[in-house]
Amino acid sequence: MQAGLNIVHVPLGARAYDVVIGPGLLAQAGARILPFLDRPRVVVVTDRNVGALHLDALRDGLGAAGISMSELVLPAGEATKGWPEFERTLDWLLEQRVERNDVVVAFGGGVIGDLVGFAAAVLRRGVRFVQIPTSLLAQVDSSVGGKTGINAAQGKNLIGAFHQPVLVLADTEVLATMTPRDFLSGYGEVVKYGLLGDLDFFQWLEENGPALAAGDMGARVQAVARAVQMKADIVVRDETEQGDRALLNLGHTFGHALEAATGYSDRLLHGEGVAIGCALAFELSARMGLCSQEDPSRVRAHLRSMGMKVDLGDIEGELPDAEALLGLMGQDKKMMGGKLHYVLARGLGQAFVTADVSRDMVRSVLMDALRGQRVGDV
Ligand code: GLY
Repeated sequence: MQAGLNIVHVPLGARAYDVVIGPGLLAQAGARILPFLDRPRVVVVTDRNVGALHLDALRDGLGAAGISMSELVLPAGEATKGWPEFERTLDWLLEQRVERNDVVVAFGGGVIGDLVGFAAAVLRRGVRFVQIPTSLLAQVDSSVGGKTGINAAQGKNLIGAFHQPVLVLADTEVLATMTPRDFLSGYGEVVKYGLLGDLDFFQWLEENGPALAAGDMGARVQAVARAVQMKADIVVRDETEQGDRALLNLGHTFGHALEAATGYSDRLLHGEGVAIGCALAFELSARMGLCSQEDPSRVRAHLRSMGMKVDLGDIEGELPDAEALLGLMGQDKKMMGGKLHYVLARGLGQAFVTADVSRDMVRSVLMDALRGQRVGDV
């Protein structure tokens, strides 16, 4: 299928912006960013992996519109998202004499987008920034919605700010350089959107997921655009997560506990944790009588057919016991008034947020999952 461009508008009043999705956007970056500039110059922060692969293409795309750029290339990986590299980034931005009316470009995956967005939020009390997300996860989730921040010793994303970008350019051609594992990890977040609010989209993914993973550009653009549209709709209803935005955390409470249990290492990527977490959230919902037992089976069948991790047994190495996992879930920042909030579902595409969940029920789901029982199978 010939893939064109899609534009999702995020109507947040004075903070409104467009998310442009499609192939070939790096080449158009200059023309698209130029209207936001007072002077033809941008500062770009990226990581070594993305920089080596795509920085020249971005430089050419900016240069085509007469925009010059200087760049800071940070180490790749989650460890970058902490105080030391944050401080280094701010120092560099100040050295570059970035002024209040300049535009900072975050060019990379979720780590770069979160860190650079936060730096833009606090530099001179806030400068504008453009997200150019280069991973599937960043294109469908972290680059949209204005959550920015870094990790603390006490946990992930605990220091940050809401700071919306002025433009997001999601070049779907760039996804071709992702490893299959990283791509499928991002796909965990894509499936999440179908599961939380759009059964038709989930059905579409059941049919088109394999083509999408194999590189079908039309399917990729359609999936990213649908996910971004759903995220935009939720963010517009609840920008600072007082309510509905928590739906985007489907699968995340289980997933974060598993990520913490595996030391945020290569044993489990974020999107893999989210995918397993979605399967567990549906299993919990079924056991609570909220949805049919067929629903978790169908979630698991789709993830399995995509070659993704589904069961706790798919995670290499030992995991802590159910009680310890429950403890890690309790450290999730989705605690409100001392109670953990869960995103559960009344069916595929019908998620809701509740604190009304028995700890014993969660424990039994985890114990069965740890025993290697195929929890969703009947
Ligand atoms: N990644 C969840 C959110 O943006 O709210």
